[in-house]
Amino acid sequence: MINEILNKAYLDRNDILFLLNTDKEDAAELYKKAADVKLSTVGNRVYFRGLIEFSNICDKDCFYCGIRKSNKNFSRYNLTDEQILEAAEFALKENYASLAIQSGELRSPAFTLRIEKLLQKINKMSGGKLGITISLGEQDKETYQRWFDAGAHRYLLRIESSKSDLYYKLHPHNNLHKHSDRLSCLNDLRELGYQVGTGVMIGAPYQSLDNLADDLIFLRDFDIDMCGMGPYIEHEDTPLYSHRNELLTKRERFVLSLKMIAILRIIMPDINIAAATALQAIDPIGREKALKVGANIMMPNITPGMYRNDYSLYEEKPCTDEEASDCKNCMEMRIQMAGDTIGYGEWGDSLRFRKRIAK
Ligand code: 5AD
Ligand code: FES
Repeated sequence: MINEILNKAYLDRNDILFLLNTDKEDAAELYKKAADVKLSTVGNRVYFRGLIEFSNICDKDCFYCGIRKSNKNFSRYNLTDEQILEAAEFALKENYASLAIQSGELRSPAFTLRIEKLLQKINKMSGGKLGITISLGEQDKETYQRWFDAGAHRYLLRIESSKSDLYYKLHPHNNLHKHSDRLSCLNDLRELGYQVGTGVMIGAPYQSLDNLADDLIFLRDFDIDMCGMGPYIEHEDTPLYSHRNELLTKRERFVLSLKMIAILRIIMPDINIAAATALQAIDPIGREKALKVGANIMMPNITPGMYRNDYSLYEEKPCTDEEASDCKNCMEMRIQMAGDTIGYGEWGDSLRFRKRIAK
């Protein structure tokens, strides 16, 4: 049965559900297939995105997130432009070739302008050598346009759930948190020419395997260029913490995340898939395990060390008290162990995107 499904040219919803439900033995077949698909499409090269989490100040109140506006139990920080540029220089020097710039979500003319100037400075500093992914939440189209013109060319905005009923169990139902806005942002980004990345949390409260199958189909129908998805990890200072006893075990959420990645690699062979940091919060070599089943992007955290503890979206976020270079060394070793090589000095853009715009 499992091989029959894995050999199909097109997986439908039932096939996907079957694969999400596989036992350990069948899952091994799924992983093997995904590894083959990865090797024959994007290859065994892993691309780095030096991750700069420059501020944890956030206007949103997602029920799962540790840096939500209503959480007063930690300190908020905002790196200076100089600190961000220093981190960008570090990435350039280490030959990471790309940055991922992320923060809590703010919408204001001042924020738009700050990011625009910052992108210009980074491009100037690097002579246009650094690929830039940004992940700064929902913004109006004009803002996205300005950031694109200033040199950002990839955008990550997780849909969190492709179905609005689940979305509103994970977010407040108000003007700041609208599922339809999230969707129209993804469409705006696509229209403007960004490489668009999205994804979901896996094993969140209220979420079923049916939901996850729908999410995978959404990703395929939207024809995404990149994906970031990882396990949900409960955070003590958030409303959803009260559901902690109804969740899958962390190990089960981890395995489900690997299955999601493997299935996505099979149904969308030529996209970029990130090995989410949250995987490492459950398993010390979680991200490398994701590489083995289809992921091809790593986002080493290069945020200056002293701020990392304050960017706690979830508990036990790994490497929060390490210096960036320590992370790099242990990561290189683990990536080699996973059988991949690092694409130093290469942007590693989404093949899917390249093919789409060539048309
Ligand atoms: N567990 C896992 N992922 C989380 N995120 C936010 N909070 C959590 C959590 N508790 C993810 C969301 C968001 C991204 C920035 O981090 O998917 O899009
Ligand atoms: Fe929405 Fe952090 S408050 S993801």
